[in-house]
Amino acid sequence: MSDISDRSLADAGVKRIDWALQEMPVMRSLMERYADSRPLQDVRISGCLHITTETANLARALKVAGADVVLCASNPLSTQDDVAAALVEEYQIPVFAIRGESSDVYYQHIHAALDHLPMITMDDGADLVSELHKSRSELLQGMMGGTEETTTGVIRLRAMAKERALKLPVIAVNDAMTKHFFDNRYGTGQSALDGIIRATNILLAGKTFTVVGYGWCGRGIAMRARGHGAHVIVTEVDALRALEASMDGYQVMPLSEAAKQSDFIISATGDKHVIDREHMRVMKDGCVLANSGHFNVEINIPALQALSVSQSSPRENVVEYTLEDGRTLRLLAEGRLVNLAAAEGHPSAVMDMSFANQVLAAIHLVDNKGKLDNAVHGVAAEIDHEIAQLKLEAMDIQIDQLTDEQQRYLASWQEGT
Ligand code: ADE
Repeated sequence: MSDISDRSLADAGVKRIDWALQEMPVMRSLMERYADSRPLQDVRISGCLHITTETANLARALKVAGADVVLCASNPLSTQDDVAAALVEEYQIPVFAIRGESSDVYYQHIHAALDHLPMITMDDGADLVSELHKSRSELLQGMMGGTEETTTGVIRLRAMAKERALKLPVIAVNDAMTKHFFDNRYGTGQSALDGIIRATNILLAGKTFTVVGYGWCGRGIAMRARGHGAHVIVTEVDALRALEASMDGYQVMPLSEAAKQSDFIISATGDKHVIDREHMRVMKDGCVLANSGHFNVEINIPALQALSVSQSSPRENVVEYTLEDGRTLRLLAEGRLVNLAAAEGHPSAVMDMSFANQVLAAIHLVDNKGKLDNAVHGVAAEIDHEIAQLKLEAMDIQIDQLTDEQQRYLASWQEGT
């Protein structure tokens, strides 16, 4: 009832999952809270998520709360095979995920997760919900809803809702402030740099590093690249974001200009072919290309292949394309999420908050079964504040309280200068 790479890796996976849990105090407190009350008792959940140590702790927490969980990968290159083995062998949670699986196997695994007849889906990128609607719509009957982890998935779901194609309520976990302020910014900031450094081991100090897209992920990447001493350029299509990047102290220019001077170019846009043929034509020799957006469509890889006369793989997760004029361009992790494919994804301490939102969102779906519209719903403000409060407590950080006088002042309009 599982399809994983190697069950003998389980012991190594268990150790890493426990290590991650030490950095996940909010998840630990939710596990304690729900161990007796079991609000997810017998709720079948199918999760299409990156199979990492943090996801393993999410699955453990859901199981502790009573759920019947199966997992499949949300990206063919992000699975940590030792974690998959540990989930199956140690925690008896079925997993369908093998690092490096083909596209066909990736979709077979999604269908295996749907064979679990989920009452709740948990997606990272909306592939599970998309397949559910496209080819398994008979399963929609009686489902409680779904949750969505990432920006790209939420955009897809909103497109479905707009066309009235969405046939179940979905909670956009990504929209919680305790998710995107931290996971997208500090998580991607650290893990994308981690992936680039692990893959290349090239010094960033003194290099020109271009970030394509200044959303929450792009902001985090730019901030951390600057921290390494790189000269950071931001490219944008949105005037407000471009202005913000400029006032944050980055150089802003079109990618066609930035490409001529960059040693590194990393995309974080959620859109297709943002690093395109015209940019490749003018890139510097040796330029490193990476993507941190959800899908491997941000870099036009077919164009890169068409422009190149030969390819080689000098290091794991690096393919060097030699162009006709002798320049080489280095593509990391096949253009897939560099933070998960070449490193271990976001650090546990940020996934702690993202996945606490997932647990509470699942419980919210159960508590509100049949009451929610078939639409994309935000996470309730109370959940966000509760998670922030729990995280602060775990970090042993105290904050001030408004006095009665301050509360009255904020609630009144009469008092001025
Ligand atoms: N997305 C980004 N980083 C992740 C991680 N460590 N685990 C699961 N999903 C992720």
